[in-house]
Amino acid sequence: MPISTPNLIYSGKAKDIFETDDPTVLRAYFRDSATAFNAQKKGEIHDKGKINATISALLFQLCEKNGIKTHFVKQSSDRELLVKRVNIIPIEVIVRNIAAGSLCKRLAIKEGKVLKEPIVEFSYKNDELGDPLLTRAYIKIALEITDDKTLDEITNLTLKANEIFKEFFLKVGIKVVDFKLEYGFDKDNDLLLADELSPDNFRFWDAKTNEKLDKDRFRQDLGNVESAYQEVLKRVKEEAKNILS
Ligand code: TYD
Repeated sequence: MPISTPNLIYSGKAKDIFETDDPTVLRAYFRDSATAFNAQKKGEIHDKGKINATISALLFQLCEKNGIKTHFVKQSSDRELLVKRVNIIPIEVIVRNIAAGSLCKRLAIKEGKVLKEPIVEFSYKNDELGDPLLTRAYIKIALEITDDKTLDEITNLTLKANEIFKEFFLKVGIKVVDFKLEYGFDKDNDLLLADELSPDNFRFWDAKTNEKLDKDRFRQDLGNVESAYQEVLKRVKEEAKNILS
């Protein structure tokens, strides 16, 4: 009998996406591979796939519990999530609470400056172009990606998610510095939060020491990358137990 080969439909920088028997559901397999600086730096973080799949599963459930619709269906193994199939909107939605990364470079602002309110910004999900920053006019008129209504909806959902994450992580002694979200439309044209929620796409700092607990440890060769990811997982699991039951 032929062994059915899983149908790989997309291989990203850290995840492989497979079709399942249900055409509306995909399987996201989280690898240990890590990239930074638009994939110029490549490496592996031991057990990252398992850690990120589990953190993502818990944070997607936290969003759902608070009324944010997501593509999450269930965690089907230690490094796999079943997710609803969506058409990803090719925009990276970034929220910033504290200055770090490209904001500091672009505007010569010191890392760690607490912003007086959260900033939401959009960049074009396009590696060849290096994910350039977008204005609304670029999105609507130049690229014709989407309209004001969807952008408003995305902005509101993202600010809401930011409040949920900040409150959740404060309880476990972590500051949510910034993060990147992706959204997509499912077959019913519902807007769903998609992709992943993990130290790969969030900056997390320990609230007491400001120690970095995210991919900046890999980007900046700070060492102890896996243990930082494990620490985030441990704290997320502890708090999730209290909230998601
Ligand atoms: P940003 O400071 O814009 O870029 P960089 O990480 O290159 O310094 O990143 C803001 C947040 O968004 C940070 O938590 C990392 C995340 N992010 C991604 O996950 N993927 C991306 O492609 C980009 C540009 C950012």
